Amino acid sequence: MSFVLTTPLYYVNDKPHLGSVYTTIICDCIARFKRLLGEDVIFITGVDEHGLKIQRTAQEKNIEAKTHCDEISEIFNLNWKKWDISFDKFIRTSSKNHELIVNEFYERVKASGDIYMGVQKGWYCVGCEEFKDNPENSSSYKCPIHQKNLEWKNEENLFFRLSKYQKQIEKIINEPSFIVPIERRNEIVNFVSRGLKDFSISRTNVSWGIPVPGYGNHTFYVWFDALLGYISAISSNSPDPSLEKSINGGWPADIHLIGKDILRFHAVYWPAMLISAGIKVPKKVLGHGFLTREGQKMGKSLGNVLDPDQLLSKYGNDPVRWYLIKDISLGNDGDFQDKRFVDIINNDLANTIGNLLNRTSSMSRKWFDNKVPIIEKKSNTNKLENFANIAVKNYLQKFDIYKLDLAANEVLNLAINTNLYLNDNQPWLLIKEKDNLPLVKEIIYNVLESTRIIGLLLLPLLPELSSKINEQLGSIYKKEIPWKKQLSWGLLINNSSLPKPSPIINKLEYEQ
Ligand code: MSP
Repeated sequence: MSFVLTTPLYYVNDKPHLGSVYTTIICDCIARFKRLLGEDVIFITGVDEHGLKIQRTAQEKNIEAKTHCDEISEIFNLNWKKWDISFDKFIRTSSKNHELIVNEFYERVKASGDIYMGVQKGWYCVGCEEFKDNPENSSSYKCPIHQKNLEWKNEENLFFRLSKYQKQIEKIINEPSFIVPIERRNEIVNFVSRGLKDFSISRTNVSWGIPVPGYGNHTFYVWFDALLGYISAISSNSPDPSLEKSINGGWPADIHLIGKDILRFHAVYWPAMLISAGIKVPKKVLGHGFLTREGQKMGKSLGNVLDPDQLLSKYGNDPVRWYLIKDISLGNDGDFQDKRFVDIINNDLANTIGNLLNRTSSMSRKWFDNKVPIIEKKSNTNKLENFANIAVKNYLQKFDIYKLDLAANEVLNLAINTNLYLNDNQPWLLIKEKDNLPLVKEIIYNVLESTRIIGLLLLPLLPELSSKINEQLGSIYKKEIPWKKQLSWGLLINNSSLPKPSPIINKLEYEQ
């Protein structure tokens, strides 16, 4: 059985922004975690290339939509590689294979009697690619997300009978594990309780889309098309992709990780479409909050957009990952503050974890011939062993319920406690007395061992830093042994060599 998880398929109107980097990093952590637990993971990401928004973006640039999409999609693909994202599938909704699956899916929904022709009237936000619920003064109303006026639409469209699935959707969304966190579920429960309305799944004024078979001037509504990307991704590399192949290849998705603004599509429209086509619904929709910058919404007009490319080249992957994972509670909104960023990285990664490794490995090398000490006698109670065991247990529990910030804090707390243990025991004073040598060996071993576990716990969160830590302990993660087993206390080999220490992370300077 596979474990399938997805990022949203990003619009290619622009290159990746910090919001898309955030979602993709969180998904990457979960994918890595599940792989370490031995799951057969299919991590899907990709791009959403059709629709009016993209059509217009290409028109503004005076180029063919296809040319525009090729260019930006490649940027996304390369970008995720630069961020060391461990995705397995990258789906482009403009690909032929995807089109085949959309058509197949549409035929199934049609066969269920869920498609009919109707007239769609309403106020539309092109940025969201969504009809809004008739806000007052709609002609002057600006979409709060895109700060753009809505457009009035009145056209003949094909509709999907969403209303037919009211009861089934109510049942699904009330399942406590389906929408997480709970605040997000409440929003959807309220929305559904007002009664589901059928929604239009075709457009007559959008040429950049998949043509609806049998309806010359209609293309599929971009969301109807895009959501199916999650399914088509699974068989996208096959020479003869099909709905059946995708379904057998791992569907249903275990997690759709998305931002709160697109929850309705994933938790209501999408399950109903799937039920209509006789396909299983995803197991979980994990909705995260929005990122702001220094307390303000990020936007081009405000001129405060953080370019993730610049962040990556200036600070590197680990610091940005650590900040986004540890400082933002998944589900809540988060704020990116430059000063806070520098402080957190310096405190947590450089001072707490980096120094711990550096100073302990240096002491051990100096006193024990460049090696891990050989333990001669063991105290009855080992405080640090207890700390480590509790930290591992809590970390696994938190990760399991996708509280990544709390899991990261468990690792940090273990490092803080390990530093305290070192300071309390002061091996640098004890070593002056020859009789203390067995005790010093025990203390140093414990600290090195705790640091080994810290390194391993960081593996899904900060893969680069984690490898550096464990390399410096001469004890790297071994693929052939279950990761959980390697988290047990006492596996650092006595008398094994310790490589020369070098800083694993540089301190950052705050520039105003
Ligand atoms: N194309 C659709 C998704 C289709 S999925 C089948 C889409 N794309 S998007 O590029 O506009 O948004 C992608 C994701 O980025 C969404 O989950 C959205 O919530 C997220 N974010 C956009 N701005 C954001 C922030 N400022 N902060 C965090 N995430 C944000 O919607």
